[in-house]
Amino acid sequence: MQNQKHLFDIPDDITYLNIASQSPAFKAIYEAGLRGLKQKSRPYTILGSDYFEPVVELKKLFAELIDVEDYNRIATIPSVSYGMATVANNITLNKGDEILVIDEQFPSNYYSWKKLANTYNAIIKTVCPVKGERWDTTILEAITDKTAIVAMGNIHWSNGSLFDLKAIRKKTKQLNALLIIDGSQSIGSLPFSVKDIQPDALICAGYKWLFGPYGSAYAYFGEYFDNGEPIEENWSNRLDSENFASLTNYQPKYKPLANRYTVGESGNFIYVQMQIEALKQVIKWTPKAIQDYCKSISFEASKELSELGCIIEDHNYRTHHLFGVKLPEGLDIIKLKANLLDQNIFVSFRGEYIRVSCHLYNTKKDFDTLVNCIKSVL
Ligand SMILES: Cc1ncc(COP(=O)(O)O)c(C=O)c1O
Repeated sequence: MQNQKHLFDIPDDITYLNIASQSPAFKAIYEAGLRGLKQKSRPYTILGSDYFEPVVELKKLFAELIDVEDYNRIATIPSVSYGMATVANNITLNKGDEILVIDEQFPSNYYSWKKLANTYNAIIKTVCPVKGERWDTTILEAITDKTAIVAMGNIHWSNGSLFDLKAIRKKTKQLNALLIIDGSQSIGSLPFSVKDIQPDALICAGYKWLFGPYGSAYAYFGEYFDNGEPIEENWSNRLDSENFASLTNYQPKYKPLANRYTVGESGNFIYVQMQIEALKQVIKWTPKAIQDYCKSISFEASKELSELGCIIEDHNYRTHHLFGVKLPEGLDIIKLKANLLDQNIFVSFRGEYIRVSCHLYNTKKDFDTLVNCIKSVL
């Protein structure tokens, strides 16, 4: 895979290593947004089919990306919190059931579980890392016959730790527990197959590794949710809603499978056009090639940082498009932040950790610049 910087609008003097917070739109997305905006200036050009057909195209693209045959299993939603609220809204628990989450999980994949636990007198069980033990061992040991739900990311959002989802799925199936995954920090840049992992639901922000606008997200719902309740009742999710003339012949039935969970106004003419361009390109690049490229530009820098005293997870157990760097003790973080800012280097800080995230517009030189900056404050 060649560097793709020419597709983006990032100036040469900017070192953007923070896509995990917000991805840059490439030019095709920008153009698609403008097309949508132009249509908004001339609303008489909006056709009835524009409310539905682009959304179907978008669902098909996301289904292809995550290896799902039937696009009717995909819902377009505005955020991860919306997706998790939908999932939690369709689960009933018994007193004392356990909901397993991972230490320092992203809040949008926590609060809905806390609320559900409060409703049913269930228990949130947080799996914390144990020194000298692999994450997967600790997680698998924590899943017991009391576990009703395992809700986790498919990588750790703050440091890129990988989880053995196949083994986790196997154990949750044996014990009749649901597996709900937040794929926000990896889907698009790391291969993911629903056929392989078989989660009950997969929720994913659209504005990071999927290059969508802020306010776009996706959800896959498995069989468990086929007859569930959406958190809102909108006209377009009902059967035959394409027939505008009979919308007030109120329809009791939803469209099949996950369509019932799609957010109201999902036809969003500007966003959907942008999302389609974004997913087409991600599929063309392929997540595998993106992962390999990110490894090729970051591997040496990660080794050098380790030699300088930084702590980075073993490369076999972490992703390469996103990883955490624990800075050496005693390093002046305020000075480092000022230096990074001064040199237009953008990474994300969490205490004494930095999270580095890269993509096809980055080069090895970006990593050299980062390493030199860290060296200069040691
Ligand atoms: C792992 C993860 N999940 C979800 C989100 C976003 O959640 P929401 O769409 O509810 O804002 C983020 C944002 O950083 C994230 O890192």
